[in-house]
Amino acid sequence: MDFATVLHRMRPDLQRVEDRLLEETALEFPLIGDILRTLILAGGKRLRPLLLLLAAKPFRYDLDRLVPAAAGIELLHTASLIHDDSLDGASVRRGQPTLNALFDPSVVIMVGDYMFARSAMLAASTMNPRVLAVFAHCLGSICDGQLRELFAARRTDVSLDDYQHRIYGKTASLFAGSAEIGAILAEAPDDQIELLRDFGGAMGMAFQIVDDVLDFRATEDEIGKPAGQDLRQGTVTLPILLFFQNGKATSEERAFVEQVIAEGAPDDDALARALQLIRTSGALEEALDYARRYVEDAKTLLAGLPPTEGRDMLAAVADHALARRL
Ligand code: IPE
Ligand code: IPE
Ligand code: MG
Ligand code: MG
Repeated sequence: MDFATVLHRMRPDLQRVEDRLLEETALEFPLIGDILRTLILAGGKRLRPLLLLLAAKPFRYDLDRLVPAAAGIELLHTASLIHDDSLDGASVRRGQPTLNALFDPSVVIMVGDYMFARSAMLAASTMNPRVLAVFAHCLGSICDGQLRELFAARRTDVSLDDYQHRIYGKTASLFAGSAEIGAILAEAPDDQIELLRDFGGAMGMAFQIVDDVLDFRATEDEIGKPAGQDLRQGTVTLPILLFFQNGKATSEERAFVEQVIAEGAPDDDALARALQLIRTSGALEEALDYARRYVEDAKTLLAGLPPTEGRDMLAAVADHALARRL
């Protein structure tokens, strides 16, 4: 099965999540309602809600129970992006101006917090303490990952282990939690809940590695957010780490990229040169090999699920994490 087929079959179910998300913007405070609506209508791939629904599919698939949780997960993700763009000073997201491009930092922080609160209310509406525990755990992990990234900024001595820890926290944990919540709400047996959590985690690792490669490969128009951002900010991601590791550069080139990370690029030409050195070094292909291995691990886990359409759809979604251009 391919990803387009998954999306086609899941469209009515995802539409219910979409409707639930829009319901969240009907607030008595119109200004903030408008802001939330604009953010939600800007789109996004809705991968985490999709994962949550698909994790439930092989078991007791009850949309009335799943939809609020799926909407809650997407709101948690969106809130984390609001804060991420503010931390990164990014001006575009999903092809639209970010909140921090439009409002004061105080407004941005509060809208993000407000969205976190709404997401928690949706999670609480499941009346399932186990779901709430996973949800709270995800929020903690995202903050942990983002803080690790902040403290690692402009450092060139980042290890593979540091990187994996950081991206598990900021990204993979929410993929893991989405799948876990879907499985919990569908009353899957405990070993299958664990399996689906691990599946989501491995897929999420691949997803963030691909994101880090796209940051080098894609243009702003393609990804709807600024490209070259990680190097510009001095964030050592897997492609940069691999560029340093395996003798892919002369010592002069390596020193130059290190300086761009540690001190910032003196001008656009210097940034472009550093980006180009990494792009042509083979580091992007090598990083994608890591992502490919995570996807393989994820798909291997699926063998432990009942052979159902849901299982095939999960495999297609994992493959899509590698193929995505957006
Ligand atoms: C962006 O996530 C943040 C990362 C984890 C890289 P997505 O790429 O899923 O963002 P949207 O929701 O589709 O905009
Ligand atoms: C993901 O990291 C951020 C969150 C999980 C909140 P990035 O900083 O790479 O995400 P983008 O590239 O801005 O979407
Ligand atoms: Mg960012
Ligand atoms: Mg990124």
